[in-house]
Amino acid sequence: MTSLPGARFGLSPAAIRAVDSPRERRQALAPAPQEEGIIYRVSMLILSKTAGVLKPSKRKVYGFLRSFNFHPGTLFLHKIVLGIETSCDDTAAAVVDETGNVLGEAIHSQTEVHLKTGGIIPPVAQQLHRENIQRIVQEALSASSISPSDLSAVATTIKPGLALSLGVGLSFSLQLVGQLKKPFIPIHHMEAHALTIRLTNKVEFPFLVLLISGGHCLLALVQGVSDFLLLGKSLDIAPGDMLDKVARRLSLIKHPECSTMSGGKAIEHLAKQGNRFHFDITPPLQRAKNCDFSFTGLQHLINKIIIQKEKEEAADIAAAVQHTTACHIVKRTHRAILFCKQKDLLPQNNAVLVASGGVASNFYIRRALEILTNATQCTLLCPPPRLCTDNGIMIAWNGIERLRAGMGILHDIEDIRYEPKCPLGVDISKEVEEAAIKVPRLKMNL
Ligand code: KG4
Ligand code: ZN
Repeated sequence: MTSLPGARFGLSPAAIRAVDSPRERRQALAPAPQEEGIIYRVSMLILSKTAGVLKPSKRKVYGFLRSFNFHPGTLFLHKIVLGIETSCDDTAAAVVDETGNVLGEAIHSQTEVHLKTGGIIPPVAQQLHRENIQRIVQEALSASSISPSDLSAVATTIKPGLALSLGVGLSFSLQLVGQLKKPFIPIHHMEAHALTIRLTNKVEFPFLVLLISGGHCLLALVQGVSDFLLLGKSLDIAPGDMLDKVARRLSLIKHPECSTMSGGKAIEHLAKQGNRFHFDITPPLQRAKNCDFSFTGLQHLINKIIIQKEKEEAADIAAAVQHTTACHIVKRTHRAILFCKQKDLLPQNNAVLVASGGVASNFYIRRALEILTNATQCTLLCPPPRLCTDNGIMIAWNGIERLRAGMGILHDIEDIRYEPKCPLGVDISKEVEEAAIKVPRLKMNL
């Protein structure tokens, strides 16, 4: 972690990490106004000389710059990728360049619709993707003010995810690359979550990644763009799925403050008013000396508590489930860190742990992970919350990473299929279990 992508533009690492909104990111990572101003003025001069116009319009200048694949807000001639994401319940698209500039993005979230039906109904998700994909891609492209012909490639999530949802993004993308005659880069959704951190921070391989979302839960060592060692995964459901189910059992949708929040976010919100010591819950898999996770048992236990207790205790239940989830995640991650150091897969000092996926946007869980990284001389890095949940930026960025590495760029799109199930990397979880590493106790004073 030497310098961050924005450092050459005079931004402090803290300022770069703090940028969150698309506009802030764009502004923070853009060249200094005077540098851009010079390029703009030179272009104006060339245009006025060659076209004989005294003061060419902004539109003309930008059009001229685009003819060199130059985008206002970037200094050089960069590769530009359009990313499309439809693997679950978000229709998202973004245009990102090689240096990590987000040139345009758009997202349509289906969360509110699915909250009303008490979970994702795949044909409903499919229909909503169909209704929105064209507009979302158009919006991302328009916001970027680049012409589709300036794109270097189109990258789209094709695995893993809901079959009906993946299908919409894939068929739209194949049609688009056919029309534009651009290369296509198929994207693994979890690979994209894992690599997002390299857009926001300068992180070198290898690093450890913890991906916790509504559909996934895994720990992996990231050795390269497409080089993953899987250390452990959930044996049943993902933590976000469990939190969504608990939120539903607690009818959090009826709480005015939480009515539009995802289950996990609602639990985090309510837990702030609760007392986690009210219920003493032992985290799952205490005896298994591996890096696997389990959340079904916890969900059932919480269900029993909900049945026994009064509704007023919702905040305490939220606090307890959040705390137990955090402790469970920390313990498995602790073992993964010790295993990687023991096998020299990670450096002994300053190894990087990246946490991403929707559940990693939870600040209580982040604080718990920070206790772990402080105790193990590691650095915790998390993308900003809006890049932890599903988005188009991470897909476009994964496309950039693959373009730079020259991996998986397809010119022939004949045999592309989506894959609802697809493991990530080489599974070495048996080796992890055989190492049977005992994890020292950590005080979770949260
Ligand atoms: O990564 P994501 O957008 O989609 C999947 O790939 O699953 O993650 C969505 C999940 C949902 O289960 C949601 O409840 C959970 O992430 N989530 C949270 C928070 N925000 C979203 N869980 C805990 N705390 C949050 N603040
Ligand atoms: Zn996701």
